[in-house]
Amino acid sequence: MTSPAGNTLVPVSPESLARAAALLQRDEVCAFPTETVYGLGGSALSPAAIERIYALKGRPKYNPLIVHVADAVAAAQLAGGWPAVAQRLADRFWPGPLTLVVPRGAAVPALVSAGRPTMALRVPAHPVALALLRTARLPLAAPSANRSESVSPTTAAHVLRSLPAVPLILDGGPCPLGIESTVVDLTTAPPRLLRSGALPLRELLALLPDLELPAAAQSLGAESADQTARAAPGMLSRHYAPRAPLWLLGPAQLALTPAQLAALAPPRGLLTYEPLPELAAHFHRVEQLSSDPQAFAADLYAALHRLDDAGVGSIAALTPPPDLDWHAIADRLRRAAFR
Ligand code: TXA
Ligand code: MG
Repeated sequence: MTSPAGNTLVPVSPESLARAAALLQRDEVCAFPTETVYGLGGSALSPAAIERIYALKGRPKYNPLIVHVADAVAAAQLAGGWPAVAQRLADRFWPGPLTLVVPRGAAVPALVSAGRPTMALRVPAHPVALALLRTARLPLAAPSANRSESVSPTTAAHVLRSLPAVPLILDGGPCPLGIESTVVDLTTAPPRLLRSGALPLRELLALLPDLELPAAAQSLGAESADQTARAAPGMLSRHYAPRAPLWLLGPAQLALTPAQLAALAPPRGLLTYEPLPELAAHFHRVEQLSSDPQAFAADLYAALHRLDDAGVGSIAALTPPPDLDWHAIADRLRRAAFR
């Protein structure tokens, strides 16, 4: 598969991994799968590569990047300090969808962290990401491989559509978790949850009971995307947004009034985790995902991409249940709906 710019999406093989690693070593970039979403990677030690990542994504320069490494030893070496709690979390959750914010080490360009004295680190659990890290022998700065503010890519085809100028995309199939890593700031006492994500919050809280949740996390029903954004520096309120405007349907809106229906531009898309046949009758395209939150998360971005591809004029999404297991999904849908 080739993009209009003549760039390639290639299956994973020893040859394509070597090509990708060679690009990275020349301070160029490539896209690769992780267990969460596809990343747009470049050497975290190269200001030129980091500049390229920001430029390709159209990402504001104040939004810092996550540095991916092959193991916790490499993470501790790059960091400017490695607290005991970081090691405990790494022992329990790495490789995996947890990103730790710690002091930035002297070898790491300030540009990676948008000038902050801190840095974000994670060891991804995807075999292709790990193989690339080991082949390139570099820490990789890698944000999600999509244009800033749009829906994150969970397949190589999503990357190609969003970022056709990426020189190489390693196609490792769909990402199994489908939602970004959980980000925890360990530079504050108590530690703070900066971004809810693929790591089940229950498991994180079991190890880190004093973890400070953003205000929106404590009362899930509250429409406080803004507060979540402020608690997570560099995180934009409007984010993860499909092309079509997305509206969240509360429990009271399952029977839409004619005025509410009229406000939803046709053709209408519905995103739900329950059948709701009466409501669904008003929609042209219905994405009914699993009622299991992990399975729902795995398909959420792909479903938003499918709705966009179908050319819907609006999307109504059922508000997730106010339950810890739906926490990250509720966060993403709130941000997708923010305008
Ligand atoms: O699952 C993921 O984390 C994916 C894959 C590719 O690993 N990456 C990802 O990157 O989602 P990105 O750039 O889309 O999101 C990075 C998040 C942002 O919310 C950013 O503000 C936060 O991490 N972050 C990075 N460095 C930080 C720092 N030093 N302090 C606070 N937040 C930081
Ligand atoms: Mg992103």
